[in-house]
Amino acid sequence: MAEFTLPKNSKIVDGKTWPAPNGATNTKTFKVYRWDPDDDDNPRVDSYVVDLDSCGPMVLDALIKIKNEIDSTLTFRRSCREGVCGSCAMNIDGTNTLACTKFISEVKAEARVYPLPHQPVIKDLVPDQTHFFAQYRQIEPWLKADSPAPERERLQSVEDREKLDGLYECILCACCSTSCPSYWWNSDRYLGPAILLQAYRWISDSRDEAAGERLDELEDPFRLYRCHTIMNCTRTCPKGLNPAKAIAAIKQQMLARRV
Ligand code: SF4
Ligand code: SF4
Ligand code: FES
Repeated sequence: MAEFTLPKNSKIVDGKTWPAPNGATNTKTFKVYRWDPDDDDNPRVDSYVVDLDSCGPMVLDALIKIKNEIDSTLTFRRSCREGVCGSCAMNIDGTNTLACTKFISEVKAEARVYPLPHQPVIKDLVPDQTHFFAQYRQIEPWLKADSPAPERERLQSVEDREKLDGLYECILCACCSTSCPSYWWNSDRYLGPAILLQAYRWISDSRDEAAGERLDELEDPFRLYRCHTIMNCTRTCPKGLNPAKAIAAIKQQMLARRV
């Protein structure tokens, strides 16, 4: 069996422990990944013991409390705090999810909080999503139509609109793509579940007139066909979406147009 050894400076070491405040009786420990590009130190895991009696119910509330009251150097992204911006995506207790919609009561006694896997880390819990969003641009995520624009707007029947349910809700948090083994190993060329779900959102839109062109762009051994139906993407999506089903639907359309 092959054995791998991590370079010395990439090994994660134990970091600092920040104890509970005096008098706190209802506490939880958050073990948080830390890495700072501005020093030569290894990545480490710091332990923060948080007083839950003075903390909101979500993991993001705990991280904000840590940053505000315990350690202002902790770095993470967040914006909406209600599961619509996708910026607080991270790996909590081994699962990619949104910190703002994950209840503290659902995580382990010692909650492990890491950045999304298999993306370069900028600092602490902040991954570099440059490549992910470059792939998003690649599918040209906007309505394409050559027919003359109507006076007011391009209309859609209720039935056609319903075809976008389960697709338009995607917030591009990247939880699914960064949980996909095929994406881990081939993300240079495989688009991954999030971007393919977004591609299918435009292919399915009755107002869009470029479905054939969009399918042509995906007709490639890597961009689409690296999906092996492992289903991690669907299991992990914090919005309850089904990227694997969207990918299967694209493959079906590819087949349909060949016969
Ligand atoms: S179903 Fe496809 S996209 Fe989803 S995790 Fe598996 S290989 Fe990745
Ligand atoms: S499909 Fe779900 S997990 Fe994937 S990017 Fe969209 S919202 Fe996030
Ligand atoms: S802060 Fe916007 S999704 Fe969590």
